[in-house]
Amino acid sequence: MNKGYVDIHAHLLYETDDGSGSIEETVKILQALIDAGFSTSYATPHNIPGNDTSLLLTKSKDKIQKISEILEKKGMDYTLNTGAENYFDASLNIQDPDYFIPLGDSDIFLVEIPFIGESSHQIDALHKTGRRCIIAHVERYLDIVQNPDKVTILKQAGFMVQTNVGSLIGVYGFEIMKTANYLLKKDLIDVLATDIHDIHHADIILKKGLKRLETLVRPAKILQLLKENHAALIHAGYEKPEDKSYSNKR
Ligand SMILES: [Fe+2]
Repeated sequence: MNKGYVDIHAHLLYETDDGSGSIEETVKILQALIDAGFSTSYATPHNIPGNDTSLLLTKSKDKIQKISEILEKKGMDYTLNTGAENYFDASLNIQDPDYFIPLGDSDIFLVEIPFIGESSHQIDALHKTGRRCIIAHVERYLDIVQNPDKVTILKQAGFMVQTNVGSLIGVYGFEIMKTANYLLKKDLIDVLATDIHDIHHADIILKKGLKRLETLVRPAKILQLLKENHAALIHAGYEKPEDKSYSNKR
């Protein structure tokens, strides 16, 4: 049933990164997403420094066009938008102003930071770029696994935080599962997404992961996490929820 869920993080583009291996696999993943209640995805291939960003975006649009043609032929109603999982490491000193690829036509960026190290240092540097960002799978960063309350620093800096549905059921290991469940319980997560890489992954996340989610929070909260919070951010204008004292505190 279409519940209008929106997935802002998935490696749906075939033959692009470590995600879907073929256009047929992408279509199977999209069918699984439709079956689970999704109606829209942002295809977010890895964007890493050194990439030709404009080429990545051109190829993404071309693949989305080809996928959409198949969906139409099959009568599958689904919206696919461009995007990227932009890797940001402050030590790489990224100078190219066009490096970051936004989610669709918005000025919101999905950003992944290094898994090891002090996340708040990365967040400080990202904050200085002035970009509006959603920080990908916060439960997977080592220092946040060690101290999940550190997520509040990311939120005080004005960023939204995203957690992978698969983390709730241990797809990335026990410690990350514990962290994701803690963050959910403490209401520190803004957005849930699939971060699907292949059809096998899709099956686990969309069947077991969403079922588990239903046992953890109320339906209204699920709708917030899988649709409303980021829809508000991307489409309905964005008031940067920055804690004004952030810069002073840091
Ligand atoms: Fe990802």
